[in-house]
Amino acid sequence: MDAVLMIEADIELPALLRHLVEEACSLVNARYGALGVLNAARTDLEQFVTVGLSEAEERAIGQRPTGRGVLGLLITDPESLRLDNLRAHPQSYGYPDHHPPMASFLGLPVRGRDDVFGNLYLTDKQGGDPFSDEDEAMVEALALAAGIAIENTRLYDKVRVLSVLEERDRIGRDLHDRVIQRIFAVGMNLQGATRLNDLSQVVEKVNKAVDDLDSTMNEIRTAIFELEDGGGSRGLRHGILELAEALSPMLGTRPVVTFHGAIDAVIPQHVADHLLAVVREALTNASKHAQATRVSVTLSVAEDVALEVSDDGLGISIPVPEAKGRGLANLRARAVKLGGTFEVQAMEKRGTRLLWRVPR
Ligand SMILES: Nc1ncnc2c1ncn2[C@@H]1O[C@H](COP(=O)(O)OP(=O)(O)O)[C@@H](O)[C@H]1O
Ligand SMILES: [Mg+2]
Repeated sequence: MDAVLMIEADIELPALLRHLVEEACSLVNARYGALGVLNAARTDLEQFVTVGLSEAEERAIGQRPTGRGVLGLLITDPESLRLDNLRAHPQSYGYPDHHPPMASFLGLPVRGRDDVFGNLYLTDKQGGDPFSDEDEAMVEALALAAGIAIENTRLYDKVRVLSVLEERDRIGRDLHDRVIQRIFAVGMNLQGATRLNDLSQVVEKVNKAVDDLDSTMNEIRTAIFELEDGGGSRGLRHGILELAEALSPMLGTRPVVTFHGAIDAVIPQHVADHLLAVVREALTNASKHAQATRVSVTLSVAEDVALEVSDDGLGISIPVPEAKGRGLANLRARAVKLGGTFEVQAMEKRGTRLLWRVPR
């Protein structure tokens, strides 16, 4: 019971496996015990823990078992195996030099849910008796514990890799939707400044650009560390209005923003962050590609959260052309991530309409 409870403790796998083997040896009075774990490719042992051999003995033996012979049998044919005399088994390869002679043998596969990870084996029951049914049942419980521990460690590693990948995706999206768009806007404004004759107006534009770059640095920090929320603490409604205001010069028109429902009360922060990024990308697209005279943003909360951004510009060809950027693809990814949908519509006469919906 103690050994099984150890799985829950925060012990490194090799130390935990060693405990389990020690426990097994003492429970069944075995002189030697070992546990081998195959690597993922199943070509070699990834771990090999022995109990009962002195360091000098282990060094003298040298090479670790290769998983052939009797030990390999436990993996290819994962059943428990009990022998009175190990050497007498037809598949025995014999021992390497300097290996202490071992007679009685009890071996069990160590498995996870779908896989055999390796094996646990005990040799030389003290007093000369062979291993009993009872011994086998006890060691079986420990082999099960070892299997769970190995599986936990492998799943944990997998989850860690996946969450790193997901985080990388999020940073990529945020950089595209928030940061690059902002820098683009600053560039447009500076370009506008070169056409001004009045020096004081140029100075004003340059100062504005410096401020914008400053907040862009904050966006980068946000994207990388997700420290702040996209809408600021004053709420999504405010955030969208502010965004529409800020992008008006670039659009050449002030977007008409409409809200339906209790936006700030109902929409959770992580959805709000996505919505702001979506509005930013949609408005930036309208300014870059549409040449629109009228742009509208409508956000409604009812059964779901629905955002519509439409313009009366040049229109978009459907299917959407392979873009240089990943803007629209990102909007879709954001919707899908939240269990929602994203639709791009070419309007009958002119313009483009984006529908972005996610569940509440
Ligand atoms: N509002 C719009 N009006 C017209 N065309 C658009 C609009 N939004 C997007 N497009 C077209 O769809 C393409 C893909 O957009 P997007 O994925 O955001 O990439 P990017 O903006 O970086 O080009 C654009 O290159 C453009 O041709
Ligand atoms: Mg774009």
